[in-house]
Amino acid sequence: MDDNIEARKTEHIKIAENEQVTSERNFWDDIRLVHQAIPDFDFDSIVTKASFLGKNFSFPVVISSMTGGTERARNINRNLAAMAERFHIPMGVGSMRACIQNHSLSETYSVINGFKIPAKFANIGAPQLVDQSKPAFSDADIEYAFNLIGADFLIVHFNFLQEMVQPEGDHNAKGIFRRLKELAASYPVIAKETGNGFSREAALELKDAGVKAIDVGGLGGTSFAAIEYYRAKNSGETEKMLSGKTFWNWGVPSPASVVYCSDLLPVIGSGGLRNGQDLGKALMLGASLGGFARSLLASADSSVESLEREISQIIRDLKITMFLTGAKDISELRKIRRIIYEPLKSWIDAYE
Ligand SMILES: Cc1cc2nc3c(=O)[nH]c(=O)nc-3n(C[C@H](O)[C@H](O)[C@H](O)COP(=O)(O)O)c2cc1C
Repeated sequence: MDDNIEARKTEHIKIAENEQVTSERNFWDDIRLVHQAIPDFDFDSIVTKASFLGKNFSFPVVISSMTGGTERARNINRNLAAMAERFHIPMGVGSMRACIQNHSLSETYSVINGFKIPAKFANIGAPQLVDQSKPAFSDADIEYAFNLIGADFLIVHFNFLQEMVQPEGDHNAKGIFRRLKELAASYPVIAKETGNGFSREAALELKDAGVKAIDVGGLGGTSFAAIEYYRAKNSGETEKMLSGKTFWNWGVPSPASVVYCSDLLPVIGSGGLRNGQDLGKALMLGASLGGFARSLLASADSSVESLEREISQIIRDLKITMFLTGAKDISELRKIRRIIYEPLKSWIDAYE
């Protein structure tokens, strides 16, 4: 199966850049922040510094885990790393399965070590914590991935919807929780979803397992059911293609997931963030940081200059959002007035 990883990574990037792969609704649009016409402070005095699990960053932005394992991915990781250094923000690499199974691909991840990044996230998949058609990752495999990039945190990503709809997906989830607990005793683990979000129940379990933080990766942005729909369509696997279609819009909306999780553990708000205003909404709901994936992909794939423009724009629009809501720093952003529309309102009310 590992022979296919490189082809799969390339296909994911191609499809994510060129096809319509987002869920039908972006739930950040269900939130409106109340405009305050009289800010009474200097725009240039706005403080955007953020901290997360003992690390300090210049901006509350995470470059979310995306890729590795191919030459194209190496370039993307290098550009992302250059901007993580430039803006003093944290970044993740994509699933490190490819380099665990084939060490000759390691440089496509460790390329980020050439940059001064304030926090690096290693990344492994929850399905690889238990035996599938291949044996589970060993302690040595995980240590290898963690050390390869000099990681500060270990992301364990949960992507069971994707596994269900992808042609070569892993189906066994039995024993993952026990293994996650073991890992959380040895590493600072961040549990991350990849577009379907965490419920309150899942967040309680993750806290119990000892994970240090949650990256909600909720519904509203990139849909892996959609990405796998296109892959299954291309490979003529009708059943998986139809499942991809059926589950295209499945999951817990990102903003609701932030609300469900953020009184339990530090949270990265992610899934569908497109700009600095969406980021402001995630922080307002209680996220410590906001994670951007697909909205940075095309520019990361094209040039470091276009990626720099993209991130500068996000930061500028976050600051405008703060100015126009009267928030001088991130903690004040938490107190601003908001209006929450349906259907997000019902998702949030369901747990109150
Ligand atoms: C091309 C691509 C590859 C991704 N690969 C990974 C991965 O290897 N590991 C992971 O944890 N998440 C991965 N993700 C998921 C993102 O980190 C993120 O959780 C998800 O895309 C939702 O964010 P978005 O709406 O900003 O894209 C990937 C996303 C994209 C677009």
